[in-house]
Amino acid sequence: MKKSFIALTGASGIVYGFGIMKAMQQSGYEIHITATDEAILNAQAETGLEYTDTKDMLEKNKISDCIVYDINDSGAAVASGSFKVDNYIIAPASMGFIGRVANGVSSNLAERCADVAIKERRPLVILFREMPLSNIHLENLLKLNKSGVITMPAAPGFYHKPENINDLINFVSGKVLDILNIENNCFKRWKS
Ligand SMILES: Cc1cc2nc3c(=O)[nH]c(=O)nc-3n(C[C@H](O)[C@H](O)[C@H](O)COP(=O)(O)O)c2cc1C
Repeated sequence: MKKSFIALTGASGIVYGFGIMKAMQQSGYEIHITATDEAILNAQAETGLEYTDTKDMLEKNKISDCIVYDINDSGAAVASGSFKVDNYIIAPASMGFIGRVANGVSSNLAERCADVAIKERRPLVILFREMPLSNIHLENLLKLNKSGVITMPAAPGFYHKPENINDLINFVSGKVLDILNIENNCFKRWKS
């Protein structure tokens, strides 16, 4: 079974992370997941629910069958480059996370896994959300992009005529799967 590592960090847009996880599972991926404390706090604000930890957050958002890691579990299997992962997705990615990874700082499992993906030349998607972007944000994103990281803004299109929030989430999820070359029908394509 193909493996995807997904990390949720403290940018706004936790629903993008949930949408991507569900789409990846539908495409047959085994999901390895961690979330920062800020991601859980933001998720509470955005969904209006209380979560005790990452597992609880996933259960309450109807996401099951994942391998869940504590964000501080630096000895987790997935923290090593010798553990084979097909792709890594950080969604949503905070500018703090991006700044640390762009500068080689791995202070938690999400940052360590991004560092592993870069050094092992494995596909890494960073779905960021911030506005406006400062020079520092842009320089960090460029640095990552130059290192082979796929940097994507959490910016849904509107040409597929979205009718609700799920249509927006599915558009962004589909674009993430597309760039990783994973078959999906998350959104209606232009002129199809
Ligand atoms: C309500 C709220 C919304 C936030 N939204 C964003 C955001 O959209 N983008 C971002 O880069 N940071 C955002 N932040 C700031 C990050 O959560 C903060 O930088 C945090 O330290 C990131 O931690 P992490 O990278 O460990 O998850 C937000 C913070 C709060 C409280």
